[in-house]
Amino acid sequence: TPPSLIRNFCIIAHIDHGKSTLADRMLQLTGIVNDRQMREQYLDRMDIERERGITIKSQAVRLPWEVDGTTYALNMIDTPGHVDFTYEVSRSLAACEGAVLLVDAAQGIEAQTLANLYLALENDLEIIPVLNKIDLPAAQPEKYAEELASLIGGSPEDCLRVSGKTGAGVPELLDRIINRVPAPVGDPDAPARAMIFDSVYDSYRGVVTYVRMIDGKLHPREQIQMMSTRAVHELLEIGVISPEPEPTKGLSVGEVGYLITGVKDVRQSKVGDTVTTKLKPATEALKGYAEPKPMVFSGIYPIDGSDYPNLREALDKLRLSDASLVYEPETSAALGFGFRCGFLGLLHLEIITERLEREFNLSLIATSPSVIYRVTKDDGGEHIVTNPSEFPEGKIREVFEPMVKATILSPKDYVGTIMELCQSRRGSLIDMQYLGEDRVQLRYKLPLAEIVFDFFDHLKSKTQGYASLDYEDDGFAEGDLVKVDLLLQGEKVDAFSSIVHRDKAYAQGTRIATKLRELIPRQQFEVPIQAAVGARIIARETIRAIRKDVLAKCYGGDISRKRKLLEKQKEGKKRMKMVGRVEVPQEAFIAALSTE
Ligand code: GTP
Repeated sequence: TPPSLIRNFCIIAHIDHGKSTLADRMLQLTGIVNDRQMREQYLDRMDIERERGITIKSQAVRLPWEVDGTTYALNMIDTPGHVDFTYEVSRSLAACEGAVLLVDAAQGIEAQTLANLYLALENDLEIIPVLNKIDLPAAQPEKYAEELASLIGGSPEDCLRVSGKTGAGVPELLDRIINRVPAPVGDPDAPARAMIFDSVYDSYRGVVTYVRMIDGKLHPREQIQMMSTRAVHELLEIGVISPEPEPTKGLSVGEVGYLITGVKDVRQSKVGDTVTTKLKPATEALKGYAEPKPMVFSGIYPIDGSDYPNLREALDKLRLSDASLVYEPETSAALGFGFRCGFLGLLHLEIITERLEREFNLSLIATSPSVIYRVTKDDGGEHIVTNPSEFPEGKIREVFEPMVKATILSPKDYVGTIMELCQSRRGSLIDMQYLGEDRVQLRYKLPLAEIVFDFFDHLKSKTQGYASLDYEDDGFAEGDLVKVDLLLQGEKVDAFSSIVHRDKAYAQGTRIATKLRELIPRQQFEVPIQAAVGARIIARETIRAIRKDVLAKCYGGDISRKRKLLEKQKEGKKRMKMVGRVEVPQEAFIAALSTE
């Protein structure tokens, strides 16, 4: 297809504003998926994506669409909406000339609407504003068209109104994409340069690499070269996805498609790298993407120590398909052999542990997540700490923690509540701005550790679900941070250590000690629990020794309470880990996480 007949676009939106549903309608309307083949969220191929109704990996699909008797090739790149996966969005954007900015007509602009819009503008994309879900009775397209227009310029009438559910307005949207989004430009005669914007592992075909051709051409059977590593591979197959992979005779300027070389590891086909040919190599690589950085670390341990080799194998396999997953072996006095793993965020952590358990049939313990700290000591040593138990001993000079710039959007009634929440999380206000009559944007500088775990849940519940959040990396800052240790029977349990602000150490120690007392079942002997900062004990609890009859403590005859207690015990049995002489249930290891 000549570049003049190609349009490359993506759909960007806040989570749940309906990207995947709209993409489904486009697949149907353009006829590449018929009604019989259609299933919801067609492009979300991973089980977890389908179950959770979220998009994790980007997808690219080619759609034919006719305007005035000419058939165009539209390449649509679906992008994930969750803040953990922002880096996937940014690289998808770099493969496009236009972006459909999708806004739920019953919700209006949200934090990720803005974040994605700014990313799209940075990439010089043509923005097509669209209000979605106009079939909803609560939709207020007029009101939000005004908001959108004041945000991106233009008049409210320019804003298309569609329903991904009913398909209303979607043909007009496809027409508009063809009329507004610029055709790709590139030099067809120059040495080949293709930008890798995604690579996924397929157990049958090995790594499938998604590319956008910038210059020149690529053909099957050619020797191709990765410009960053200079590795050469034979191009076994090249093609387009529409909506299943279809081999073609090649890809040329502006086209979007896939490559297969038989490589087995996604890291050999690095996202952001430039593909060229060995015979006629390009001299300059395309500007790549920033590498995804792990933000949250957690120790992952098999419950059954003999599963350790299986866990290693499972992680190695998952890394084939997820280059952002990092891990290294780690030993814990309490938990034995395991791995310290780095994740993009808490959702990423949850997804990986869920996949490890489901796809590889492992029973795992994940320790409380931690962010990364930089610690300098009086003797001049510098330590990078991703595991709280490795916080250095001795005289500490300074501790630095990662910071973020958070953007919160909310109706104005909740401003006070939000400010209180941010203050309690050591935030400092950067600025506040009205986006419409009722909508306020607050920007805060906050420690990552304070928001990465449960901040969003608190924000949602304190604002009846109305506030939305997005955040970006904002470097490191010094903080008055200390390590809180937990001792069972006088022995420090490394997996329970956490790093917190000095002012919160006492509350944290008390909370975890209380939580452990509740979670750890009674044993044959008394178990003292202590929390300590350095050598100073700051909280103390005791689990009394077991009595013969566990029900004895339920005085009276409340049968439902007894049953509950028995059930609780049964459940607890499933996931126990011996720590010294004490049986500790799995929930205890993430107890430090919640701030209830
Ligand atoms: P992520 O992939 O997680 O970023 O979400 P998404 O933006 O792709 O949203 P998705 O398409 O999964 O839609 C979110 C919810 O909105 C689903 O429950 C859809 O059924 C619903 N929905 C999407 N489009 C429409 C629409 O036009 N009308 C109505 N009434 N509901 C819609």
